[in-house]
Amino acid sequence: MKKGNYEMKILVINGPNLNMLGIREPDIYGKQDFSSLQAYIRSAAEELGHTVTLFQSNHEGEIVDIIQSAYGVYEGIVINPAAYTHTSVAILDALKAVGIPTVEVHLSDIQSREAFRQHSYVSMVAVKTICGLGFEGYRRALEYFQE
Ligand code: DQA
Repeated sequence: MKKGNYEMKILVINGPNLNMLGIREPDIYGKQDFSSLQAYIRSAAEELGHTVTLFQSNHEGEIVDIIQSAYGVYEGIVINPAAYTHTSVAILDALKAVGIPTVEVHLSDIQSREAFRQHSYVSMVAVKTICGLGFEGYRRALEYFQE
């Protein structure tokens, strides 16, 4: 993979219920809404010199479709699969199929929450997993592609 001082095309995927940020359990996920997250990611990407496409879906199959369509187009994926983290073999298989380096992000620290959140299928393929840093986690994920 080409990294470093080079503009990369990165696909950023957010899974179910992340469009409800700001309303949804603000004690866990913060008070800022989803459009603030999108603006944060766009500005971090611009600063770091990457081109990003932002995608959000509440539907597992749509997430599989966007991952498949990334093949040959994107050089990196940043994904917060949300609840599908803990259930989706289909998303894991799609990421394995395309072979695009993927960084997994979670706003909250899933390791210190309920037992069912402590297993991630996506971690099995992710080159890095970043948890518990809120919005900052997405910036760190984009930074990975510069290291
Ligand atoms: C999440 C953690 C998941 O367990 C949860 O289902 C989410 C959000 C996070 O960003 O902390 O929807 O991925």
